[in-house]
Amino acid sequence: MEVPVIAVVGSLNMDLVVRAPRQPLLGETLMGSSFGTAGGGKGSNQALACARLGADVYMVGCVGSDDFGRRLRSTLLEAKVDCQYMEVCAGVGTGVAVITVTDSGENSIVLTSGANALLDRATLERSKEVFRRSDTALFQLETPLDTVAWGLKMARNSGCKTVLTPAPAVELPQEIWRQVDFLVLNETELAFYSLGPSFASAGAPSGMDEDKLQESAQQLLQQGVKTVVVTRGARGGYVASRQKAFHFEPFRVHSVDSTGAGDSFCAALSVKLTEGALLEEAVEFAAAAGALACTRHGAHPSMPWRHEVKAFLEAAGKM
Ligand code: RIB
Repeated sequence: MEVPVIAVVGSLNMDLVVRAPRQPLLGETLMGSSFGTAGGGKGSNQALACARLGADVYMVGCVGSDDFGRRLRSTLLEAKVDCQYMEVCAGVGTGVAVITVTDSGENSIVLTSGANALLDRATLERSKEVFRRSDTALFQLETPLDTVAWGLKMARNSGCKTVLTPAPAVELPQEIWRQVDFLVLNETELAFYSLGPSFASAGAPSGMDEDKLQESAQQLLQQGVKTVVVTRGARGGYVASRQKAFHFEPFRVHSVDSTGAGDSFCAALSVKLTEGALLEEAVEFAAAAGALACTRHGAHPSMPWRHEVKAFLEAAGKM
């Protein structure tokens, strides 16, 4: 089997993480139990996970000329991610995410873009070689929308399959959907994009009912997305394309921190699909990688290695 080559275009953040018994109320001061920093950002999480899962990976993104940026680069380099198209921007800080993780493993995140806001068309043009060399290109929405739309087109024109994680949810220009081969999103995001921003709460916390789920996924297919993959946490997930639709099962784990679980899922799905696996097999592998990430603290530290996902699947009787 050929080694898949994957380009990740996206954000790099340093995550500042506080653990607390619960999320604070508005205006409340709450005592937390611990604080730590960990590499993060949806782009760099996906890049790290793809590399740990066996792909050759290019990271295209921007960091500031600060210690956070240097730490992120060094973690990616350690995993053999190609960082030659990761730019260091003078006079601006690396992106930062302030995260509160509750004792039940759920999180809330506030981001400042920092250097991620400087990822523009020109950066992508300087990286165009990456799209020529890659089989698949991954995008998220923590960088400017114009760059994402431009990058999706560049990737498609170079023959890459495209994968979009449309998070954080923002209103997107119609043209974007037609450039997406695989859209990987959770129920809250699905509600946002199919029903509109004011209905996003329909996806959380109890989730959508079956009819709404299928209808919403169909709506995105009609807009031009080729395959929609919806993650539903402890309820598994749902996949819909023009050819088929199916549900997939969750793996039950004790979740300590869900930060980065979606990125782990998306990376694993992309690696497997690029290797030529069937959608059903790729989704099972991705669900295992996502579940494993929930059992560990922090984003970068919880991105699983290939052998760990394999062992997890074997223990679950799936291989
Ligand atoms: O998807 C998880 C990531 O979202 C975190 O690592 C944080 O940086 C935010 O970008």
